[in-house]
Amino acid sequence: MKTYIVGNWKLNFTVGEASIYLHKLLKAMPNYRDVGVVVAPSTLAIQPLSLQTDRHKIKLAAQNAFYRDYGAYTGEISFSQLRGVVDYCIVGHSERRYVLGEDDKMIAKKVEAAIRNKITPILCIGETESERAFGETADVIRDQLLGGLSEVGDDDLSKVIVAYEPVWAISSTKSSRIASPDEISEVVKLIRRILADTYGIESAEEVPVLFGGSVKPSNAGAYLTVPGVNGLLVGGASLILSEFIDIIEVAKRVRS
Ligand code: PGA
Repeated sequence: MKTYIVGNWKLNFTVGEASIYLHKLLKAMPNYRDVGVVVAPSTLAIQPLSLQTDRHKIKLAAQNAFYRDYGAYTGEISFSQLRGVVDYCIVGHSERRYVLGEDDKMIAKKVEAAIRNKITPILCIGETESERAFGETADVIRDQLLGGLSEVGDDDLSKVIVAYEPVWAISSTKSSRIASPDEISEVVKLIRRILADTYGIESAEEVPVLFGGSVKPSNAGAYLTVPGVNGLLVGGASLILSEFIDIIEVAKRVRS
């Protein structure tokens, strides 16, 4: 299985800035066969970047899309419109769950619509700080994982990527906490156990599980060597080209 390094640019970069970044990234980056590099620009930048990128080196992800293909849904963009333009779409990011009010039911429809349109959903799940403090992590992970996958048939499980992103570890500042490899390991084991119990061991093993939450070049190696982790979802550090390249280099070293 490939190691995935996914840069989530969130609401950052104008189209021009995104284009310059991608140009520099493509220039700096050799083609590592075992490392799949993906960037998720703002919706506005997706189309121009798709004309600019070399898909052998870098693939594009959307940060969100709507589950209906067309219709009276003002402001939305559909997976069918993104079909052939992006290879991946982040679905159920905690910022969409908690800032924009998405629930597991909507997220499940988005996962289904992505697969139907040949786009790999990156299903994000993770507990909040208070859920962890109250011992609810396992329940939250189970609910979000099985809830998000509720419209995925057994044959389609291999078309999904899962990202474990504890909400308390996202965008951490110097004073706040980041996740330890042991904490990640425990939850990733749980994710794999739930997938195995629900879909069978073989299918469960085919699902890439990524980790995200304040990933930096300095901790990427430790996170990538957690058993069962197949890649990283990188927010803040992916906005700094040199840091993102360093994380890709770490992934390459870990793989070789
Ligand atoms: P962060 O964001 O790396 O800035 O913590 C990760 C994410 O939200 O996907």
